[in-house]
Amino acid sequence: MAVYYSAEDKTFTLQTEKSSYQMKVDEYGALLHTYFGTKMDGSDLSYLLARTDQGFSGNPADAKNIRKYSFDALPLEYPVFGNGDYRVNALRVQAEDGSCSCDLRYESFQIYQGKYRLAGLPALFAKEEDDSVTTLDIRMKDRYSDLYVHLLYGVFEKTGAITRAAIVENKTRKPLKLLRALSSCVDFADGDMEMVHFHGKHALERMYESQPLFHGITQIRSTRGTSSHQQNPFVIFKKRNTTEESGECYGFSFLYSGGFEVLAEVDQTNAARVLMGIEEENFCFLLEDGESFTTPEVCMIYSGNGMAELSHRYHTTFLEHLIRSEWKDKKRPVLVNNWEATYFDFNAEKLLKIASQAAELGLDMMVLDDGWFGKRDNDKSGLGDWFVNEEKLGCSLRELVEKINGMGLKFGIWFEPEMISEDSELYRSHPDWALQVPGREPIRGRSQLVLDFSRKDVREYVEEKIYAVMDSANIEYIKWDMNRSIADVYSATLPPEHQGEVLHRYVLGLYEMSEHLLQRYPHLLLEGCSGGGGRFDAGMLYYAPQIWCSDNTDAIERIRIQYGTSFGYPMSTVSAHVSVCPNHQNGRITPLKTRGICAMQGTFGYELDISKMSDEEKEEVRQQVKSYNRLYKLFQFGEYYRLTNPFEQREFAAWEYADKEQNGAILSVVFTDVHANARPAVVKWKGLCESAQYEIEGKCYSGSALMHGGYLLPVPKGDFDSLMLHAKRV
Ligand code: DGJ
Repeated sequence: MAVYYSAEDKTFTLQTEKSSYQMKVDEYGALLHTYFGTKMDGSDLSYLLARTDQGFSGNPADAKNIRKYSFDALPLEYPVFGNGDYRVNALRVQAEDGSCSCDLRYESFQIYQGKYRLAGLPALFAKEEDDSVTTLDIRMKDRYSDLYVHLLYGVFEKTGAITRAAIVENKTRKPLKLLRALSSCVDFADGDMEMVHFHGKHALERMYESQPLFHGITQIRSTRGTSSHQQNPFVIFKKRNTTEESGECYGFSFLYSGGFEVLAEVDQTNAARVLMGIEEENFCFLLEDGESFTTPEVCMIYSGNGMAELSHRYHTTFLEHLIRSEWKDKKRPVLVNNWEATYFDFNAEKLLKIASQAAELGLDMMVLDDGWFGKRDNDKSGLGDWFVNEEKLGCSLRELVEKINGMGLKFGIWFEPEMISEDSELYRSHPDWALQVPGREPIRGRSQLVLDFSRKDVREYVEEKIYAVMDSANIEYIKWDMNRSIADVYSATLPPEHQGEVLHRYVLGLYEMSEHLLQRYPHLLLEGCSGGGGRFDAGMLYYAPQIWCSDNTDAIERIRIQYGTSFGYPMSTVSAHVSVCPNHQNGRITPLKTRGICAMQGTFGYELDISKMSDEEKEEVRQQVKSYNRLYKLFQFGEYYRLTNPFEQREFAAWEYADKEQNGAILSVVFTDVHANARPAVVKWKGLCESAQYEIEGKCYSGSALMHGGYLLPVPKGDFDSLMLHAKRV
């Protein structure tokens, strides 16, 4: 077991292979946070908590006149509003009389082997035979009422992940309103840290940014109903001097695809409180007596050896304990998607031309994107009408798929199940199925409205329509898209006092529907998408083993996007395609070779009309597909290393995949700046065996030489030149 309770000290110590986490129940029954960091022996570290009279920090009633005891100056495991702690808190509850007071004290605990589950929500899991995962369930109770909070901890000894979630139970015999119910809190003793977060916008997601914390509150959040392009629910808190290879850092990943917030407050004692959970502006949950609310899960990981190790631990954790799809371990199909090839302007003939070329060049799958259903020749109509437009295609879907299968290709299709166009049959018959505020004009996004997925009847209707399409042909992949932020958060069927629940119920509905889909089609390869990477989060990975990373297909911009994504997500989840030049998003021209190398950084595919390529280009595609097929194990399962930071290093970007058994590695380099009279640069490999010999392009080097001395790169021959090297152990 990885959780130890000391009855003498009243401490709970959570132990993973390399980290420890500790809490202590003090003499008042408060649950204090005493440690999170490098593995230690489990000694009671509460002696480090100096008690001082901070002044203007209230003292709980049972501490009487002990001014040195205040919740405002202690590290609390799950801080609440209204107990004399003035910092940001995890839980704010309003009683029927309008008061907002709560005072949680420790009651009991339970430790058991395996991992707790969260009803209706994604969560890390333990494999059946795995005895290295332990659950700790600590029960807290309000000192004045029968409000209970279960603090859940999942401890993954091998990967170092510690998960958190909370269940709030109302047994007060009266209704309660949850005005805020966050998932996790960590009170760090030293607030001298930086927060690394991944901000962005449509077509430029997950841009790395690191900011020192200050006295006050640092906040990132999404109020958009989705995890969003603008911020990602994955953050790292690190010491100022932490690098890829050294120093302390703490990751927090939220397994949730709706709005979220991260709050980091450095207080008057220079301590930092870090909170993560559902964003509160769009949240108010009414709990009747006997009801409970379960927060989504946070996955925390500590590394004392820099951010590369932190990323590796997240990658392993998500691959082994989050992604359930059988596709996680199977070679992903190299696909061609028709979106940038045709947009809405296609028929079966055009599609078959692309497919036959794809088959000829060795690809595995053809994906039919937006525009095949209802009346959908542009993005202003048709969403919700999930029946095949045979007139546009010129045949039935079954006929099209049979022809594509006949060429030796699998077939995949695009849906945007959560949406409705006002110009659709569905909207004409069910206008109340869209989220809309009565008496107000709707706020449109991409000319479309959002279906009320908090409603079962709405979900069931869409489910049936999707199943009918799926059952009509041999469809082996779905790209599930979602192309706007949610506004007009109002459900036609919920009573007023429950309207604050709509967005969370929407996310639960989305999860339920994804679960149904996967139960019905267990071998389906589901790709997540939200206008590219607007819903790239750990919650989605529970259902979809890969996510379209960005609508930006320019290889050079993808370097930064994929760099940012790599911190918290395994590269096999990053869907990346080669597209045409000039690039459709920014007009840049890059060599096909470079586009291939950048797309191979994730799950590989094409998004252009390959039938229109020159013979020379087609041959290059054939070779790219061959290389990917030969090396996919390294791309898909290798340890990923960021060798340069593309936000700082202007000359070239480099990354690497190293075989975990140290049998080989792939190094990719893209030259992002060229100069006259240039001096060749050196890049140092990672993850090799020091004493082994590796062959690269016919020459032998020791692992030690490659890792410490490095490899001499050629001088680039022009703009955005690139190379990919395979080091094979000899
Ligand atoms: C946004 C996606 O990210 C694109 O790849 C494409 O599927 C379009 N939607 C289709 O509308």
